[in-house]
Amino acid sequence: MTHHDDQLVIDVISIFPEYLQPLDLSLVGKAREKDLVRVDVHNLRDWTTDRHRTVDDTPYGGGAGMVMKPDVWGRALDDVMQPGSHLLIPSPAGRVLDQRMAEQLAQDEHLVIACGRYEGIDSRVAEHYRQAHRVTEFSIGDYVLNGGESAALVLIEAVVRLLPEVLGTPESIIEESHNISGTLEAPIYTKPALWRGLEVPEILASGNHSLIEAWRREQALIRTAEIRPDLLDKLDVEHLTQQQRALLDELRREREISATGETAKR
Ligand code: 6GU
Repeated sequence: MTHHDDQLVIDVISIFPEYLQPLDLSLVGKAREKDLVRVDVHNLRDWTTDRHRTVDDTPYGGGAGMVMKPDVWGRALDDVMQPGSHLLIPSPAGRVLDQRMAEQLAQDEHLVIACGRYEGIDSRVAEHYRQAHRVTEFSIGDYVLNGGESAALVLIEAVVRLLPEVLGTPESIIEESHNISGTLEAPIYTKPALWRGLEVPEILASGNHSLIEAWRREQALIRTAEIRPDLLDKLDVEHLTQQQRALLDELRREREISATGETAKR
């Protein structure tokens, strides 16, 4: 495949290249076909030199599991990394991936994702490449995976959908960027209006778009307070309407009251 100057290139290195087959499908697959992104998947074992194609060894200092060898990773990364490359290493100890990080990565020219298995990659690999490159260890959440491949799939989908022309900046992306205050979205419905005894909220069929928008903004805040109260403190108040600010104050007061109640019980 050829490369043009404005195209994002993503190289993924893994001992299970088949794990990355979903990249042939759906949104990312179509973006690749349209040449909006180039994704190349490599087998780490291609850079081994022994008969058994060994990629791991026992940990210094002892302990369970195996550690991926720095010499094999060094040969692989020396071949794949370019002067401006950004090296991404999936790790449960990394910075948690969020939308802001995805937006920044979508501006890069070359991402190299080094997928570890076993207990991880010898720590000197990140240290070495940090001397001449940007290196980011990233996590996709607070749980443990057996390897970085599924995390790489998550990151690639989050980044590729933000590339210009991949979705043609449809309504859905514009709406997301309107929702930069950081709330969850309001609940959504389609036909039929009555399903298994459950009705669609009447206001959504009113045809009154300003009332509908006000309702959605209110629901977005109520849901955020219920499901992700941790996000309430991170909201960008600048991007909230006056009505939302008033409701936010109310929801915060309710939360403080219930927190005080919890303390009194102890
Ligand atoms: Cl990026 N890698 C692994 N191995 N486990 C994880 C993770 C990444 N993110 C959450 N758990």
